[in-house]
Amino acid sequence: MTDRALGVCYYPEHWPEDWWAEDAARMAACGLTWVRIGEFAWSRIEPRPGRLELDWLDRAIDTLGAAGLRVVLGTPTATPPRWMLDRHPDMLALDREGRPRGFGSRRHYDFSHQGYRAECARIVEILARRYGRHPHVHAWQTDNEYACHDTVLSYSPAALAAFRDWLARRYQSPQALNRAWGNVFWSMEYDSFDQIGLPNLTVTEPNPAHVMAFRRFSSDQVVAFNRLQAEIIRRHSDRPIAHNYMGRITDFDHWATGADLDIAAWDSYPLGFLSDRLEEPEAHKRRFLRQGDPDFQAFHHDLYRGVGARRSGGPAAGGRWWVMEQQPGPVNWAPWNPAPLPGMVRLWAWEAFAHGAEAVLFFRWRQAPFAQEQMHAGLLRPDSAEAPAHAEAARVAAELAALPEPARRAGTAPAEVAIVFDYASAWAWQTQPQGRDFDYFRLVFEAYRALRRLGLDIDVIPPDTADLTGYRLVLAPGVAALSDPFRAALARFGGTALLGPRTNAKTAEMAIPVPLPPALPGLAATVARVESLPPGVAHALRAGGSVHRWLEHLETTAEVVEETAEGHPVLVRAGRLRYLAAWPDDAAWTRLVSDLCAAEGLATAGLPDGLRLRRTPTHRFAFNYGPEPVAWQGATIPPAGVHWWPL
Ligand code: GAL
Repeated sequence: MTDRALGVCYYPEHWPEDWWAEDAARMAACGLTWVRIGEFAWSRIEPRPGRLELDWLDRAIDTLGAAGLRVVLGTPTATPPRWMLDRHPDMLALDREGRPRGFGSRRHYDFSHQGYRAECARIVEILARRYGRHPHVHAWQTDNEYACHDTVLSYSPAALAAFRDWLARRYQSPQALNRAWGNVFWSMEYDSFDQIGLPNLTVTEPNPAHVMAFRRFSSDQVVAFNRLQAEIIRRHSDRPIAHNYMGRITDFDHWATGADLDIAAWDSYPLGFLSDRLEEPEAHKRRFLRQGDPDFQAFHHDLYRGVGARRSGGPAAGGRWWVMEQQPGPVNWAPWNPAPLPGMVRLWAWEAFAHGAEAVLFFRWRQAPFAQEQMHAGLLRPDSAEAPAHAEAARVAAELAALPEPARRAGTAPAEVAIVFDYASAWAWQTQPQGRDFDYFRLVFEAYRALRRLGLDIDVIPPDTADLTGYRLVLAPGVAALSDPFRAALARFGGTALLGPRTNAKTAEMAIPVPLPPALPGLAATVARVESLPPGVAHALRAGGSVHRWLEHLETTAEVVEETAEGHPVLVRAGRLRYLAAWPDDAAWTRLVSDLCAAEGLATAGLPDGLRLRRTPTHRFAFNYGPEPVAWQGATIPPAGVHWWPL
C-alpha cells in the first residue's frame, strides 16, 4: 500500500514554457506530488499527420520530474486533431437523429471506427515506447472520461457494421436472433444479419431486445477501445494504468473496463453534480449548495474502489482507486456554479482518503483565461495568484505529512454491508422503465444513502460477485437478471440479503421469464402484476413511511414483514432472504434498513443531519456536510469540518 498523496492536473501546452519550472516548484511547495498531463495535447504532439513533436513533452516531463513530481501521462485520444477528420471523414459519431457530432470541442469520435482505432493504437504505441520506462512517468491514464457528453451510443455506419458482426457472433443465425428477440411480433423477422439496423429512427419504439443488444454492444465497444490502449501500454511499461470515470454514468460496464486497468479513478465535482445530476428537492439543493450532496461522492468512492479491485480479483475493499480530478472552486458547466464553503475542498479530499483513495488530484492548476473552461476555477487564478483552494490543498498536504505510519497509508476498513451495482440493469430499466421515473441509479443510490445515514461502511460490489464472505448485510435492489455466480453466492450466504423490486424481472434478452419473478429459491412469492405510479401518488406503510413510483402485486405465502395501510404486502421474507416489492420513500428506506441491521446485530448510529462517517484501518472519520456545526462523540465539528478519532 502506498502513502496517500495529492496532485494536480496540468496543461503545459497552455502556458509559455518559461513558466513551467516555477509552476512545478509551486506545486511541490504546496505539497503536491502527482501531476497529470497530456490527455488533450494531440494537436501539439502530432501537429501534422506523422510529424511528431515530442521534444516539448520531454522537457515538460523533465521539468516537472526535476521538481520532485510524479507524472501521470494521459493518452490524447479524447481530442483527435482537426487533420484526423480529413483522413477519416466518417470517424464522427452520429446522434440518434443521424446527425454528426462534429469537430470543435472534444470526444468527437466513434468507438467503432476502425480507422480511428488504428490511429489511437499508433499514437499510444509512440507514447508508450517513449515514456513507458521514463523515470518521471509513474502512471498512465487512458483517454479521458469515456461516455462524457453522451458519447457511448452512436448510430453511424461504423457502429452499424460492428453491431452486425457482434450480433452474428452472439446469435450465430438470424433465426436464433429472431427467436431470442421475439421478432415474430409485428413481423420484425430477419433473414440475414445484414438486414438489421440500429435501433433509432423507427416509427415507434423499437423491440426492447434490439435496444438491449445495442446497449451491450456499445458497452463492449468502449471496453475493447480501452483494452487496446491498455495492452499497448503494458507492452512497454510496468507503470499502473488508470482511467478517469465520472459520476452517475451508466452507459458502459465499468466493471468490464476495470478488469483491464490497475487503478479506477474518477472525477469528482460535488457542487456541479448536486446542481446538474441529482433530482433532489429544492430544499436539499439549497441546504447543500456549497457542500455537495452528502452521499454522492462517497457512493462513487465506494463504487470505484470496487471497480479498482477488478483486475486483481481481490475484495472490493482492497481496490486501487484515485480521484483524478477534484473540484477546486466554482465550475463552469452546471446550470448554477456556486463557490464551495470554505473547508469543503479539504473535506472532499479527506473523505476520498477515508474511503481508500491513494491519490486526489485537483482540477486544475491554473484557471485558463481562454476557451470553453475559462470560468472554471483552479488552484491558481488566471493571473497566477493563489485561488482559495490552494490553501486548502496545502493544508491537506501538511496534515498528511504529519500523520504517523500506518495512518498515512492509503486504505479503508473492510465493510460489513454491501450493495450490488449492475450496469446491465441500468440499461434494462432505461430500455423499459414502465414508469417514467424508474431510474436504476436512483434506486440504488437511495438505498445506499439510507445505509450511510446510519453510519455504516459500505462496499459497492459487482453483480457477478461469487463470494459474499465477510458481509453481514447485502442489498441488491432492481437487478433485472441475477447472475449465476451471485445466485450461488446468495445460496451460501450466512447474512441477511434484501432483493427487489424488479429482481429477475427480465431474461438476458429482455423478455419476461416464466416461472414469473422473482423466482428465488425458498421464497414463496410471485409477482403477479406490476404498476408504476406518477409523482404525488404514494401508499403509506403501516409501520411508517410510504412506497411510491413502483408497486408489485405479490402472490405469497411467505412471512409478510411490511405492508401498506390497505394490507398490500411490500416486504416478505424467508429466513434471512427478504424481497422488497415496491420503491420505498426516504423514511421507509431508513426504517427498513435499520430493521435489517437490528436483525443482523449490526451497530448503527443516529447521525445529525449532514454528518457522515467512514472508518479506515486506524481511524474513524466524520465529515460535516451540513451548514451548521454538529456535536458528535465529544467533538464539535464545524460546517465543512472533518474530525478523526483513533480506533
Ligand atoms: C471533466 C473533464 C475535464 C474538465 C472538467 C471540468 O469532466 O475530464 O477535462 O472538462 O470536467 O470540470
